[in-house]
Amino acid sequence: MNEEKKTLFSAIQPSGILTLGNYIGAIRNWKALMEECNCIYALADLHTLTVKQVPAQLRSNTYELAAIYIASGIDPEKCIFFVQSHVSAHAELTWILNTITYPGELSRMTQFKDKSRNHADNVNMGLMDYPVLMASDILLYNADLVPVGQDQKQHLEITRDLAIRFNNRYSDTFKVPEPYISATGAKIASLQDPEKKMSKSDPNVNAFISLNDDRDTIIRKFKRAVTDSDTEIRFDESKPGISNLLTIYSCVTGKTISESEKEFEGKGYGDFKVAVGEATADLLEPITKEKNRILSDKKYLDEVFANGALQADRIARRTLSKVYRKVGLVERKH
Ligand code: TRP
Repeated sequence: MNEEKKTLFSAIQPSGILTLGNYIGAIRNWKALMEECNCIYALADLHTLTVKQVPAQLRSNTYELAAIYIASGIDPEKCIFFVQSHVSAHAELTWILNTITYPGELSRMTQFKDKSRNHADNVNMGLMDYPVLMASDILLYNADLVPVGQDQKQHLEITRDLAIRFNNRYSDTFKVPEPYISATGAKIASLQDPEKKMSKSDPNVNAFISLNDDRDTIIRKFKRAVTDSDTEIRFDESKPGISNLLTIYSCVTGKTISESEKEFEGKGYGDFKVAVGEATADLLEPITKEKNRILSDKKYLDEVFANGALQADRIARRTLSKVYRKVGLVERKH
């Protein structure tokens, strides 16, 4: 760990195949941030359990997600990359933080309310406690920064509240993390309803590009993308479909929006959509190939996990021992 760099923590849930939106919005950012910060990245498998999972699928999703991240350039030698459930301090700190958390502040969370509505048959304590587990993830590593999208802002806010509350009650213990607002956090919308976020749980598979889609599927989905009845390829609020495609094109090629607009001046929507599809396939093809290669080597992935857990555990244990001491638990002597 470089002492001069700030510590950044982030995590993602292994809850199914990723989309192009996740790739552009999260994975690419994780890679860029590794240059700037000491990064600690977790696969938040305990969080995933808060909604119903098929056990075998959760396990294979976890391997698959790890393979995608490594294939995308998250080098486990250059960051701490681990599986949340491998470091038991996450669950243990959650218990302690639960003792200073009020039910009211958890039941008010927007995501809890949304998920309770969407999973009405399984509103469980874990779902409600989700933000406390997330606070534990972050606070165990004394993270300075947490990259957050709009949907996680409230969770970072409660993390800060809990850190401050604990520090006030038991003396200074936790670093209070700041949100990291990324400059390149482009939002990718659904291809079928450009007013909505691209989501892997969309019932219409044409709405999203999955990182497992082959070239033909990718191009076909872009050809079917919903646009408008105008003909001009221009970034404009009144043209959400075309604007989304321009954003995607610019993200996958590295060209600016205005360069992209110029490139397609006078061309039709049909040609443009195929070009976006091809550029996206060019970007994803080598990643998918590399992901499949990594995935076929479980032994390597298990080693990456073991090594990551060892490094994470060392930091997390230190924080947890301090917390246990502060709240008055008797230290276990070896
Ligand atoms: N809740 C986050 C999400 O779904 C994932 C997550 C778990 C996380 N723990 C975290 C993100 C800690 C940042 C920091 O996107």
